[in-house]
Amino acid sequence: IPVDDFDLVIFGGTGDLARRKILPGLYRRYCSGQMPDQARIIGAARGDHDADEFRSMVRDAIKEFSKKNDCDDDKIEAFLKQLDFVSIDARGDKGWPELKGLMRDGVVKAFYFSVAPSLFGDIAERLHLNEIADAQSRIVVEKPFGRDLESAKALNKDLAKHFEETQIYRIDHYLGKETVQNLMAIRFGNILFEPLWNSQYVDHIQITVAETVGVGGRGEYYDKSGAMRDMVQNHLMQLLCLIAMEPPARFEPDSVRDEKLKVIRALEPVDPHHIVRGQYAATESEADYRTDAGDPRSRTESYVALRAMISNWRWAGTPFYLRTGKKLKARTSEIAVVFKDAPHSIFGPDAGRHRNILSIRVQPNEGITMQVTIKEPGPGGMRLIDVPLDMTFAEALGEEAEDIPDAYERLIMDVIRGNQTLFMRGDEVEAAWAWTDPIIQGWELRNDVPKPYDVGSSGPEDALMMMHRDGRRWREIKE
Ligand code: BG6
Repeated sequence: IPVDDFDLVIFGGTGDLARRKILPGLYRRYCSGQMPDQARIIGAARGDHDADEFRSMVRDAIKEFSKKNDCDDDKIEAFLKQLDFVSIDARGDKGWPELKGLMRDGVVKAFYFSVAPSLFGDIAERLHLNEIADAQSRIVVEKPFGRDLESAKALNKDLAKHFEETQIYRIDHYLGKETVQNLMAIRFGNILFEPLWNSQYVDHIQITVAETVGVGGRGEYYDKSGAMRDMVQNHLMQLLCLIAMEPPARFEPDSVRDEKLKVIRALEPVDPHHIVRGQYAATESEADYRTDAGDPRSRTESYVALRAMISNWRWAGTPFYLRTGKKLKARTSEIAVVFKDAPHSIFGPDAGRHRNILSIRVQPNEGITMQVTIKEPGPGGMRLIDVPLDMTFAEALGEEAEDIPDAYERLIMDVIRGNQTLFMRGDEVEAAWAWTDPIIQGWELRNDVPKPYDVGSSGPEDALMMMHRDGRRWREIKE
């Protein structure tokens, strides 16, 4: 079903994110019939391009960043006809009247700020001064949403001068991932799990976002952020919220976001003994982080592991272990709910220790696995083994699974539909920074040096030790 007719302006329309994700994503929505024929996408950027140059850049981007079988030349050309371009100065006067001239009345107007946060305020102001945006318009802002609580507050304030909270869509692309939304479906669509979803039955939860890529190419940005700001404050925090929150009364933006906010506000400060920072070190064939980042003395972390505790009735005493890192062994994101031992074993001490583990694989091979204990087959008596009940969504859903939209395309369509459920509210982002800030300040104060770990490993030894001290083990990082 097509969404309502729209004009979408992408500031930073020739930038990396636009080329990799936003424009190829819109093209796929076009192919699926979701984008109305009259809808328009207007690239806006500093460069002196004309519309044809922009279209040819987008043509290349679609070919480079879409799956081969998505690329039908006729379809691409038809899609390109819906594109336009304006050369604009975010901090000056150039281009704004032209942009105003291109916008239509009576359609959804959306403005995607795919630019550095330092330009958010300027663009918001000019959209307002030039009377380009109206009270129904929507703006989409990318991360990083600030680098600490203070800067996030300032950004919220700048945007609030010209836009209501209901008009502001703060993207965290993890919320657009199919399995991340499935977290809510699994928890609140089944009666099976929710009664066990608390500290009485759950021993601990592990959230892992492991990457194999390094920071090559974006070292300049990354070196000022590090894994804590780049991944934990946003993506891992969102996963934590969805796994830990109370059931919202309805699947509606503020019901869901209120519950997420309560989780963040209930987080205890992290004890320095329960956090490990790492930085990838060179191997014979691979460069180290410092080379990739272009700073031989960098102390920025490319890995973080930490133990978070949530002080509320549901979760008191159940640790949430979070870890993320670059240049690790495998690319895999997983949430594992590790249940407690059965209260009594009727099979005696020789049966060993067996645990139920519910693992939700966010990517790749999206799916869920439930580890259950069964009898080892054969005549050898009552010996127990753990086996996975495995469901890969691709297998279970067949062709339907192939059509799953990528996170960005889904989220952009939500903007046009006016649905904020999968976007972060201003107070949520601020609360996340309020929890992250003291951790980062502690490192800065102590001049903390991250622990080295080999490229292709599971992370620093200290992270293993941290778990070991708690009498637990990390799950293996594997695809
Ligand atoms: C981005 C981070 O937000 O998410 C990157 O800035 C990271 O450093 C990326 O690589 C991971 O996203 P995905 O969708 O590949 O898991």
